Amino acid sequence: MPRHIAIIMDGNGRWAKLRGMPRVMGHRQGVLALKPIVKACAHLGVNVLTVYAFSTENWARPATEVNGLMDLLVEFLRSETQELKLEGVSIRTIGDIAPLAQRAQRALQEAAESTAEQSRMILNLAVNYGGRDELVRAVNRWLSTLGTKSREGPLAVTQEVIARHLDSAGMPDPDLLIRAGGEARVSNFMLWQIAYTELYVTDTLWPDFDPRTLAMAIRSFQSRSRRFGALES
Ligand code: IPE
Ligand code: IPE
Ligand code: MG
Repeated sequence: MPRHIAIIMDGNGRWAKLRGMPRVMGHRQGVLALKPIVKACAHLGVNVLTVYAFSTENWARPATEVNGLMDLLVEFLRSETQELKLEGVSIRTIGDIAPLAQRAQRALQEAAESTAEQSRMILNLAVNYGGRDELVRAVNRWLSTLGTKSREGPLAVTQEVIARHLDSAGMPDPDLLIRAGGEARVSNFMLWQIAYTELYVTDTLWPDFDPRTLAMAIRSFQSRSRRFGALES
């Protein structure tokens, strides 16, 4: 079983378009698709599930769509946090939430606080997340810890230092990255962490993604030979 599954929840807009609906309806349906996947992952023994909800590039969309997405995020947290807590899910965020509307920031903080003690599975919501932005913030965080401390020898960053300052610090890297919606690209998602992640792209649009689609992705993962650059043992 993958310890950490990451999902690019793409295809909401196309799902709506196919039905002659506004894009926001696709996002609404996409939120409904998420809950059974979170539960399935928790029941399967996955330790971390990270879902890409809003990228640093998604601000380029019309304000009505951006606001609709923020409303859905708040709605999701208000309606599902309690039930996810009972499932043993700890809700966290990766990404820079400072530019989000106050109510979205508050909803994320409240969900994180109320589920902080849960230890069955971590649900990481990637909100205003970009892999490049995360790396820059990680390096800046590290630099700010150096501050005025006196130092011996030249200043040098290491892989360990970067990993320790990422938003995902302390979590295992994703074993499996699933992209719904058929596009074979990573769209600035977890650039550092997916160095050796198994990729699975499905044409299924995110609102149609269900636990059976998840099971297919996991079966594909289980059939792979992961060598991490070494040779088959
Ligand atoms: C993914 O669905 C959700 C977000 C990016 C927030 P899209 O809105 O990108 O849907 P498509 O790719 O246009 O179908
Ligand atoms: C990736 O989907 C971001 C999320 C699912 C939140 P996009 O629809 O934004 O990515 P591109 O534009 O197809 O690369
Ligand atoms: Mg898309």
